[in-house]
Amino acid sequence: MAGRFFSFEGIDGSGKSTQARLLATALRAEGHTVALTREPGGSPGAEEIRRLVLEGDPDRWSPETEILLFTAARRDHLEKTIRPALARGEIVITDRFADSTRMYQGISRGDLAATVDQLHALMIGVEPDLTFLIDIDPAVGLARAQSRAGSEMRFEDMGLALQSQMRAGFLTLATQTPRFRVISGDGDQAAIAATIKAAALTHLAR
Ligand code: TYD
Repeated sequence: MAGRFFSFEGIDGSGKSTQARLLATALRAEGHTVALTREPGGSPGAEEIRRLVLEGDPDRWSPETEILLFTAARRDHLEKTIRPALARGEIVITDRFADSTRMYQGISRGDLAATVDQLHALMIGVEPDLTFLIDIDPAVGLARAQSRAGSEMRFEDMGLALQSQMRAGFLTLATQTPRFRVISGDGDQAAIAATIKAAALTHLAR
């Protein structure tokens, strides 16, 4: 039996990590086996790459090198964590996947969308069954993200204009892609979680 593959996407501070966790808890309570994971990271090798891409000087990597690093991390995550869990029939919930690369690396430092898509086709080639886009006003998101500032700040440092551009990019992608469910991240956490759980259960019942 093959499992199901769900992803959460959104700009920094959207609350998607919290919602990913809440969905995992809710589905486990329904009796499902859930593998909750994240990107960049999600496997030991990819977690090592995470440190390379999220720490240090924002100009540490060229946009092209960055695409390669995120894709390398994703490939390892897919091989070591996602595919084995799906093969066991589990529900995989990942906090970010390829749509993040499409936005962050694809549009934020010049138009590299085609490069991202080509590398994805070559090295990854799979999409989630369902993607929850947690949509939030970039000013709200940025304030949240900066209030928990740590050493991983390279992308939050990009500022409001870029976060706005990426929000618009995510929303455009969502309207073009049936697997997306757009969820407003502006509201009560439990209410948002209930909406997401209902959408996930509807999908699982199909
Ligand atoms: P994440 O840990 O999800 O941070 P947050 O909880 O603040 O959303 O992701 C870390 C950063 O990595 C985030 O700023 C987005 C960025 N990122 C990319 O630029 N490209 C990618 O492919 C991925 C997966 C993440």
